[in-house]
Amino acid sequence: MAENTVRHLGVIMDGNRRWAKQHMFESVMRGHEKGVDTFIDLCEWCENAGIPYLTVYAFSTENWKRSQKEVSDLFKLMRRFFVEEIHRCIEMGVRVRCIGNFDLMTEEDRRVIREAEEKTKNESTLRLQIALSYGGRDEILRAAMRYASDVKRGTEAEGELTEESFEKYLYTAGIPDIDLVIRTGGDRRLSNFFPWQTTYADLYFTDVLWPDFSEKLLAEALDYYRSVKINKGK
Ligand code: IPE
Ligand code: IPE
Ligand code: MG
Repeated sequence: MAENTVRHLGVIMDGNRRWAKQHMFESVMRGHEKGVDTFIDLCEWCENAGIPYLTVYAFSTENWKRSQKEVSDLFKLMRRFFVEEIHRCIEMGVRVRCIGNFDLMTEEDRRVIREAEEKTKNESTLRLQIALSYGGRDEILRAAMRYASDVKRGTEAEGELTEESFEKYLYTAGIPDIDLVIRTGGDRRLSNFFPWQTTYADLYFTDVLWPDFSEKLLAEALDYYRSVKINKGK
């Protein structure tokens, strides 16, 4: 694979509530609903662009601090996606995996996620990671705790921790690092999105709100990535 093609794309899908307000909807959920539609389209656009790995930020550990109503409506929407829209993933050849801190979710959420993962486990055109209840710092802390307990049990040698051996404790074990991050919604920060895996990622920010993201904008971001790599002489 050429050095200037994106193997793993990360997307911070931001701006759903502003989109709902812009369109005068009373409920922010209309923005989140439209956001889910755009996300399903994104899978197809990534396949058209030949991208094999996609990781999207759907709900952060910090998002638990939102109103109880918004959190519970968001999880309802996600359960609906995992149950009613999973056939779209199968049709597109998308293998779905959810990554994040599941301890904070309900048993029903976990069950629905497990079933969606199981139903798509033989798909391979696009490997999709949905970061749900995900925080980068939380991921690293949990990895460190698992490493420490392996040392205690004697399955890991003390004092021999390397980047390679630590990576297997991360949610993304076995998956290549993120090459390009796209963030919609105008803010220029990563908001706890995969700090370890984006160390060398190129960053592409757009003011467009997530529900308005399009295949054309994806192409622009991929052009940006190519131009950065070409300018570096790769
Ligand atoms: C991103 O859109 C979706 C989630 C964080 C769940 P927001 O809900 O953050 O929408 P804005 O950024 O407030 O417009
Ligand atoms: C980042 O968006 C998280 C997701 C897109 C799921 P936020 O809207 O939660 O991030 P901040 O609060 O602007 O940093
Ligand atoms: Mg936001």
